[in-house]
Amino acid sequence: MRQALDPSKLKSIYDKVSSRYDFQHALVTLSSDNRGRKMVIEHSVKEGDAVLDAGAGTGSTALMAAQKTGPSGKVVLFDLSEGMLAEAKTKAEASGVASRMEFRTGDMSSLPFSDDTFDVVLSTYSLCPLGDPAKGARELYRVAKPGGRVAVAHSTDPANPFVRWLAEQLERIVWRIPGLSLGCRSVAVTDALRAAGGEILFEATIGIPLWPFKVLVVRKPGHASQTQA
Ligand SMILES: C[S@@+](CC[C@H](N)C(=O)[O-])C[C@H]1O[C@@H](n2cnc3c(N)ncnc32)[C@H](O)[C@@H]1O
Repeated sequence: MRQALDPSKLKSIYDKVSSRYDFQHALVTLSSDNRGRKMVIEHSVKEGDAVLDAGAGTGSTALMAAQKTGPSGKVVLFDLSEGMLAEAKTKAEASGVASRMEFRTGDMSSLPFSDDTFDVVLSTYSLCPLGDPAKGARELYRVAKPGGRVAVAHSTDPANPFVRWLAEQLERIVWRIPGLSLGCRSVAVTDALRAAGGEILFEATIGIPLWPFKVLVVRKPGHASQTQA
């Protein structure tokens, strides 16, 4: 596995690619990225939910979440990159859902929210660049309310050994071009979420053979309270 990039390097990469990110990511994943986002939303968000989208980027997932929560819900978009969040804000204003959104910058490896804050915590393709993805996943779990859901999509290793070898060779090359790799590697967080106490509600592997994604939704046991984030 490639060494993760430093957060300050990641911030500068994402600030630079922000205006072309949606096009580039959809192109290299043959739009399976959006399939993953839709699955995450379908299996986690309900009307009126308080949602955190960690590593929200240009807001593609957060926009879907805000549409599903409706006006009684709230979505916090959290990201390292101001450039990515600026794109998200423009899209949210154009879609008429900006009033139910909040934009915050920071490092999702150490989230500035109290335990048990959100009904739903999302991460689509934002665990992949983290230095310690399992720690990132535990942070997502920590800020979810009891009875709430943590829903993630991330790159995973191809199951077939030959395809895995091929993907590894390709990753070695792409890793040398940070504007293309975006610091993303295949990661694994299922064990970390299970060990934290998460009950698996939904699991799927999607995407193209060379670049599969894992979609995972877990429930934090307990009963949800009525408190809003
Ligand atoms: C591949 S993009 C995914 C964006 C979006 N969630 C999506 O579905 O397209 C990864 C995002 O994670 C953000 N990111 C990377 N490391 C982060 C960190 N430590 N804390 C917060 N955001 C981070 C990047 O700035 C970028 O916006």
